Amino acid sequence: MKDLDLAIELLKKGDVVAAPTETVYGLFADSTNDLAIQKVYRVKGRPSCNPLISHVSSVDMAKCIADFSDKALEIAKYFWEINKAPLTLVLKNKSEKISKFVTAGLDTIAIRCPSHPISFELIERFGGPLAAPSANTSTSVSPTSFEMVQKDIGTKIPLTLDGGCCNIGIESTILDLTKDPSYVILRPGGVSKETIESFLGKKVLTASEANITGISAPGMMKKHYSPSIPVRLNAAFPIDNEAFIAFGKTDVSCDFNLSHNGDLNEAAKNLFSALKKFDIPEKYSGIAIMPIPNFEIGVGINDRLTRAAAKN
Ligand code: TXA
Ligand code: MG
Repeated sequence: MKDLDLAIELLKKGDVVAAPTETVYGLFADSTNDLAIQKVYRVKGRPSCNPLISHVSSVDMAKCIADFSDKALEIAKYFWEINKAPLTLVLKNKSEKISKFVTAGLDTIAIRCPSHPISFELIERFGGPLAAPSANTSTSVSPTSFEMVQKDIGTKIPLTLDGGCCNIGIESTILDLTKDPSYVILRPGGVSKETIESFLGKKVLTASEANITGISAPGMMKKHYSPSIPVRLNAAFPIDNEAFIAFGKTDVSCDFNLSHNGDLNEAAKNLFSALKKFDIPEKYSGIAIMPIPNFEIGVGINDRLTRAAAKN
């Protein structure tokens, strides 16, 4: 693939490239290159205190940059290699080479192994970890298609690889393995708490159950994923000029249904493009959304919606 050759060339030169993952599009740069990583923050307008996830193409590549206990190794092999699941693991950073801008100065590092063939091949051929936040301007909606990247940061970067629409549609689940005695889900996402607990055979905590706030999860800002018009949650019907987004069967006429069958995976896949599509201040006074069941990937959907609806 010609574009992939160009992407590798750009990354080797210390430039940035947007590419699809199975969750959302990411803005990739060499995790070991300070200038490249600083460029990522600049393009996104992201505060430098918010660390980035390093993406690897194998457990072996991850072992070069983080300390893995036997249990951590078992988790990585199961979720990354066998299940191809969007799980980010937070581990102790052990590499001197990783840019301090990637970890925002923390002694831990977030790592995941994307299953999308384009980002996977990008990392594999680059031959080392690539840091990537979602490929959007900081605090706005994460892109789940090539077109969404183009409309947002497209003109500020040299290349976006086109991989169509992302299958999962919300970001990876972040599981912190450095917290004792229980592992902690810092961000709900593409892999559910239920799936993680069933593999581990024990409970994991949510960030609020573990009393984790800004300090160990600097990026978990309340306002995020925000359209420019107000978002109203748990709506039964639209008020005034709101765009109405439904979920499942309803008699109320809607502008879009996240999933007619009430399928949470389909709803996650459609979520960000729907928020973007109806973000038209000239036409709508806001976006009203029906309740989404709060289990499995629905927890990740509700997390994004709560942040989208936050006032600050
Ligand atoms: O699905 C995803 O995870 C996407 C794709 C592109 O891989 N990436 C993504 O990155 O969502 P971003 O930058 O939008 O979110 C990364 C989150 C931030 O909330 C950040 O605070 C957290 O990961 N994070 C990164 N390193 C961390 C660390 N060492 N400890 C705790 N949280 C960390
Ligand atoms: Mg993001």
